[in-house]
Amino acid sequence: MLNNDPLWYKDAVFYEIPVKAFADSNGDGIGDVQGLIGKLEYLKWLGVDCLWLLPFYPSPMRDDGYDVSDFYNVAEHFGTKEDMRKLLDEAHSLGIRVIVDLVLNHTSDQHAWFQESRRSPESPMHHYYVWSDTDRKYEKARIIFIDTEKSNWTWDPEAKAFYWHRFFSHQPDLNYDNPAVREAMLHVMSFWLDQGLDGFRCDAVPYLLEREGTICENLPETHDYLKEIRRRIDEAYQGRILLAEANQWPTDVRPYFGDGDEFHMAFHFPLMPRLYMGLRSELCDPIIDMFTHTPDIPDNCQWCLFLRNHDELTLEMCSGEERDYMYYTYARDPKMRRNIGIARRLAPLLDNDRRKIELLNSMVFTMPGSPIIYYGDEIGMGDDIRLKDRDGVRTPMQWTMGQNAGFSACDPAQLYLPVVSDSVYGCQSINVKSQREMPHSLLQWMKRMIEVRKRFPAFGRGSISFLRPTNGKVLAYVRRHEDTALLIVHNLAASAQSVELDLKEFAGVRPIELLGEARFASITGSPYVLTLAPYGYYWLNLTPDRSGPESYGIEQTAL
Ligand code: GLC
Ligand code: CA
Repeated sequence: MLNNDPLWYKDAVFYEIPVKAFADSNGDGIGDVQGLIGKLEYLKWLGVDCLWLLPFYPSPMRDDGYDVSDFYNVAEHFGTKEDMRKLLDEAHSLGIRVIVDLVLNHTSDQHAWFQESRRSPESPMHHYYVWSDTDRKYEKARIIFIDTEKSNWTWDPEAKAFYWHRFFSHQPDLNYDNPAVREAMLHVMSFWLDQGLDGFRCDAVPYLLEREGTICENLPETHDYLKEIRRRIDEAYQGRILLAEANQWPTDVRPYFGDGDEFHMAFHFPLMPRLYMGLRSELCDPIIDMFTHTPDIPDNCQWCLFLRNHDELTLEMCSGEERDYMYYTYARDPKMRRNIGIARRLAPLLDNDRRKIELLNSMVFTMPGSPIIYYGDEIGMGDDIRLKDRDGVRTPMQWTMGQNAGFSACDPAQLYLPVVSDSVYGCQSINVKSQREMPHSLLQWMKRMIEVRKRFPAFGRGSISFLRPTNGKVLAYVRRHEDTALLIVHNLAASAQSVELDLKEFAGVRPIELLGEARFASITGSPYVLTLAPYGYYWLNLTPDRSGPESYGIEQTAL
């Protein structure tokens, strides 16, 4: 059953799934909704609270479904609306919520609206899209897909006019100055909420409207429409959420929360590369700086924290220098780069070093926000940089060491993409089944971390304050919520480190390490000294223990 706290998303652990890549139930080589239903037990076991499904709508699939050709259906190879309802029922009965992508900004050029729109300027749907006689309008708007696109305008020989698109040229932007479009997309939203969905990850929201002389991002008019969407949710769909994909600076993302009346959640894009930078430079400054630049958000809002997703690891929110550093340290081979970013998975980015994988996950699990796991990263799946576009990080989920990694019973040649097959990341080494059987696997560790996180609302709801020890390789912060105080310490260095922390205000407390439940030495008025293994970390409970005399006990050390 679902927990009915209206702020459920503040404590939730999210998990991102491209339906196509997760599990194939009918052996056609493409993952589908029935396949996903069959894997809900696994997601429940792992402790996931909410799934984010990538677009499953009918589509020519030239942008993996973000090019929608019919908002009201499920693509045939994924299943039917009936299957979707069944997925929702079964997920809900396990206490798992499901949000899906709502692609507001554009459609496929194959969408009936566009086909009608381009027919003639007299067509009632002409103004569903943004047409122009010249391609010299809105010149301040940047190009996002720099690998493939030269302009945000494309000439349409049928309409004899240019149409506007912020992404691929086969994805014309909808015209949100047209009230009919605004209403049409609200209708799409209600339709899916009526099927029982728990909300949306709203794709590419900064770009909904255009105004001459601006960069055409984050416009006040765009926020007006997004607030309209939120009003619709609040009126009729309590407990459902909106999560914003706004790849912007924190100060520009802040308005997407409004006064708690726009988005419930937004991804924290700029923090993500700084976690990788901090790790490689062995310095906590880039991470702390990013929090200094992150404004407070309303109480009913939440950041969504991630390490990887289905796109390139975006470096758009980096300075030129930072970008060079990231490319140099994480993508020296040009084949690893896409647009302004790096198309690799977590494990290969971190040299398959279990300590680094744990460390970065520990950060997103303990910083203010709700973490989201990209499918396969919980077992340390690899990527295939030879594949085009962002396909290298969208390969089939590795369930077993059997045929096609247990993803599909089809002939391997029929798979939508090949299973990663190198000797380090192939399914003989990396798969769910064997990691479930091994008590100390990465998967078991992720499960444990999820469990522990869920015992403490302070992780999702608490404040954060950074301690500033002289050892700049050690990142230390306190999360506080009601009576609880948790001290989180990360060693970003490849060598063991010692750190002195000023914990005077907790004098008398005997910290308990949360992952192993061991008691540490009492805090006194003097600096508290901790030593950390290379890439080591501690989650320490500093909440004063009122449950009677403290035992010293090694006997309390549990696995
Ligand atoms: C978002 C999606 C990306 C897609 C783009 C265009 O950024 O995450 O995968 O290509 O929108 O729809
Ligand atoms: Ca299938």
